[in-house]
Amino acid sequence: MSDEEDVSVQNKPKKKKRTQRVIFYAADCWYSVVKERVKQLGWKTVEDEKLDAKANLFWVDCSKLHDRLKILQPWQVMNHFPGMPNIARKNSMGQNLNRMLKMFPKEYAFYPRTWILPNQMSDFRNQFDSHNNALDNKIFIVKPDAGCQGRGIFLTKTLDKIPIGENVVAQMYLKNPLLIDGYKFDLRIYCFVASVKPLRVYLFQDGLVRMCTQEYVRPNKDNIEQSCMHLTNYAVNKHNDNFQQPDDDDGDSGSKRSLQWFMDWIREEHGNDKADWLWKRMGTIIMRTLLSIIPILSREYDQHFKSFTGVPVDIRKIHTSTTGSNGYSASQPTGNGSTGSGSEGVGAASRGGRMQSRSNSFKQREQSQEREQHDAATTDDENTRKEQNRTNNTTTNGDQQESENESEETGPQLRGSR
Ligand SMILES: Nc1ncnc2c1ncn2[C@@H]1O[C@H](COP(=O)(O)OP(=O)(O)OP(=O)(O)O)[C@@H](O)[C@H]1O
Ligand SMILES: [Mg+2]
Repeated sequence: MSDEEDVSVQNKPKKKKRTQRVIFYAADCWYSVVKERVKQLGWKTVEDEKLDAKANLFWVDCSKLHDRLKILQPWQVMNHFPGMPNIARKNSMGQNLNRMLKMFPKEYAFYPRTWILPNQMSDFRNQFDSHNNALDNKIFIVKPDAGCQGRGIFLTKTLDKIPIGENVVAQMYLKNPLLIDGYKFDLRIYCFVASVKPLRVYLFQDGLVRMCTQEYVRPNKDNIEQSCMHLTNYAVNKHNDNFQQPDDDDGDSGSKRSLQWFMDWIREEHGNDKADWLWKRMGTIIMRTLLSIIPILSREYDQHFKSFTGVPVDIRKIHTSTTGSNGYSASQPTGNGSTGSGSEGVGAASRGGRMQSRSNSFKQREQSQEREQHDAATTDDENTRKEQNRTNNTTTNGDQQESENESEETGPQLRGSR
């Protein structure tokens, strides 16, 4: 290069560096909270269909999901993975979990026994006597396949109540849940699936505890229809006069509390070891649920995104939730400012005095729930077990599986209590 050329290059006016701005396509987004957050982040929002090719982030809350996936470009991301409905719909999730249970009876004994109806009606019928009454005092909870917010869900002891020909799941009702102050509750836990190939999952350190508004009594003929006693959904309980709005932002009171409060409560009531075990266990269950659809996700990925390859699928190598081998992990993002450790929460000691577990201890609950779930997963399913024993010499019977699996499934601290 000559000196002259060199000078001319140096004198060239510098191009103004263009900052890359996220362009958010909002035409298929139904939630104002998402749009507001996008605005706060300083991202640009477009709604015009003609501009969709310019967008690099899509939020789709409607049936256009598959159309969008088909035309998604490599520089574009969206809020769904193809194949996720396989665990978002009750029938599909039941089917996938049941399939895994057959292959991995120990690892998948974490959910109540589930029948997909009407397909599994003949097996389900075996749970009832000739008068259509449930055997062994069992109670079933029946849920419409595509329902949410507790809609259409009911408890039953008789076969007559099952709607004929409708797509529903029937599940063993867990009669002995852990209670907070005498009330049934559930946990809403948020996990973020950042990547499917390889599977990368983040477990958010906060979430919601949603409480019933009527004190819990094991189901009997007088209370079996009381949804505010048996269903923990906010949509069900918010209409009850007993519903208590939380006092403040701490999430430590009222009918909706925070997951961080709950973990503090567990620590105080049941000790650090159990709280640590529980947190890991929740991560494990999330991972195993996701793993149940890995083959489907993998297939869908290959169809939609041809360049992705190589999903490790040997589930036996995945031992816990918080870190996994083969690139699987359920990790806890840190330093995001909005979450702290659920364990060392400020004010834990002062909250402890106010919150008292009314009746059943964690240990008892754990024992009986494990028994209910174990019944559901192994004891009742003789046919499955026989079939497995026939086809796989290394598979042991249900009782052996339970004891072999104690340390992972129940935690070492619960062993003595069984
Ligand atoms: N097997 C069970 N044993 C005891 N209680 C259950 C069982 N299944 C569900 N419940 C109760 O019923 C509530 C509603 O059930 P579920 O969460 O399955 O359906 P949904 O809330 O209508 O749908 P989704 O959560 O898929 O949006 C749960 O939050 C829980 O309180
Ligand atoms: Mg629910």
